[in-house]
Amino acid sequence: MVKFFGEAIYVLSSKIPEDVQKDFQNIIKELNEEILLRGAKSKEEGAQITDYTIEDNKLIIRITSGKRVRVHHAVLRIKNYIQPILGRKFKIGLRSIELREPKIIIEGSHRITSKLPFVKAIKEENGKTIVILNDLSESEIKKPIIDRLIHLIEYKEEKEKWGGKVEHWREIKRSPKKEPKYSGDPSDVLIKIGWIKHFYVGQWLYTPPITHLIRKFQEAFIDIVLRPLGFIEAIYPKMVPLEVGLKTGHIKGTPHQMIFASQPISYNPEDFEEWNDLVTVLNSVPKDRLKDFVKSPEYFNCFAQCEPFYWFFGDEIIKISELPIKWFDRSGPSFRWESGGIRGLERLVEFHRIEVTWLGEPDQVVEIRNKLLEKYEYFMDKVLDLEWRWAWVTPFYLVHAGEIEKEESTIDINKPGTIDFEAWLPYRGEREDNKNWLEIGNISIHGSKYTGPFRIKHQKKNQILWTGCSGFGVQRWLIAFLSQKGFDPDNWPKEIRERITRPPKSFRAITYPNPENQDLLEKIEKLMSKLEAM
Ligand code: SER
Ligand code: ZN
Repeated sequence: MVKFFGEAIYVLSSKIPEDVQKDFQNIIKELNEEILLRGAKSKEEGAQITDYTIEDNKLIIRITSGKRVRVHHAVLRIKNYIQPILGRKFKIGLRSIELREPKIIIEGSHRITSKLPFVKAIKEENGKTIVILNDLSESEIKKPIIDRLIHLIEYKEEKEKWGGKVEHWREIKRSPKKEPKYSGDPSDVLIKIGWIKHFYVGQWLYTPPITHLIRKFQEAFIDIVLRPLGFIEAIYPKMVPLEVGLKTGHIKGTPHQMIFASQPISYNPEDFEEWNDLVTVLNSVPKDRLKDFVKSPEYFNCFAQCEPFYWFFGDEIIKISELPIKWFDRSGPSFRWESGGIRGLERLVEFHRIEVTWLGEPDQVVEIRNKLLEKYEYFMDKVLDLEWRWAWVTPFYLVHAGEIEKEESTIDINKPGTIDFEAWLPYRGEREDNKNWLEIGNISIHGSKYTGPFRIKHQKKNQILWTGCSGFGVQRWLIAFLSQKGFDPDNWPKEIRERITRPPKSFRAITYPNPENQDLLEKIEKLMSKLEAM
């Protein structure tokens, strides 16, 4: 049982005259017996004014309340009731409202810390937890901060019960075993032969030969999986305003993984004179001073890649004839800060992906997902001939929004959720060990997780819209393929071999790639020359 207590200060436009004060007995009676009990089954559930005082132009009302008419709702009900009376009868206006030190009183002991926003202190008394909040202004009362705090407290307790991060993983399908044609680590080879060069944490420069392979992989995926299903290309922006991330959930779910972007402090070069002088004199980058010359971040760099798709349809009413909408984007990289575990092309900070996005009625969204799954299976199994498996996992959109869900005992893949695609990396070790598999993509039905907050509406009033998305991480698919099939095109399945033409020549310098790897580069080039010339 949750109870509330608070002291509301109504600041009025003038001093309250003596004779008005008498009227207050009746006003309070009416409030306590009628207004503050509306919607409550009992007095305990509703709100009650315990006492009040009048000091000059301040009306101070103390309120206790239950779960139905929470203290902040009571404050607003009182306002709505007294404002016209004061105005009409006594020509007194209401200037502002403040709720002083509202308290939330919860039965039992709870693991709440005073680090929660708006929380001033926590006390435990007689088996109850008392959460004392900071004073709230009228706009905070309306927001409603208290409801959200209670939600947050309950959510944290729930999360605690489930042990914090609950991620489930259940295999739903796998390919037959396939004898690998290779046992090496392709990232290692690509680095040695200089096709990729490490740029910065989790970032690489992809030279023309590897770019060629990446592009051919992308094209194969688009031709074989996307085009036949009617997906068409769009270009989504790659810096996402923070407000968009508030709606997708990323802002509270993945701030530890996002790279934020800032605008300069001004467009005026003179404002940067000090900075320029510093750089000139130091001849290094005074990184700790940069914060004085940039604004607080306004964006995060593309993270899920589908965020702009939901934004685009936000607040629009979609015509039935337009549905379903099937677009994909491959216009730029995504960024994900990975503190540890950065490795070759398998775990990157900057990675490239084809993001497949669709919007429609629930049935349409499920059907498209199912058709995509068929095509994905064909692509993985026949075109690339990979050893793969699929798993029903914690939905990515919940993980990204920092939310949890209980694991269901049975699964229904036609409900909202995520399927991960994984491939075995033989160089890491035997297929029986999970750590030797790599997630190469995923596909999801989000239900109304995004159509809700973005308010994407169907032409028909009662019909809802759902969305789905799927990420094809190009580097990872290529690494999975090269890990199982190697660099010799004679070991590549026919369809993909026919699509991949010979890569352009590799860059060589006296010092690049490292002279001790020149032989390896020659060997790889020789293998590549088996491919059709462009
Ligand atoms: N947007 C999805 C994700 O971030 C699919 O790419 O996982
Ligand atoms: Zn997505």
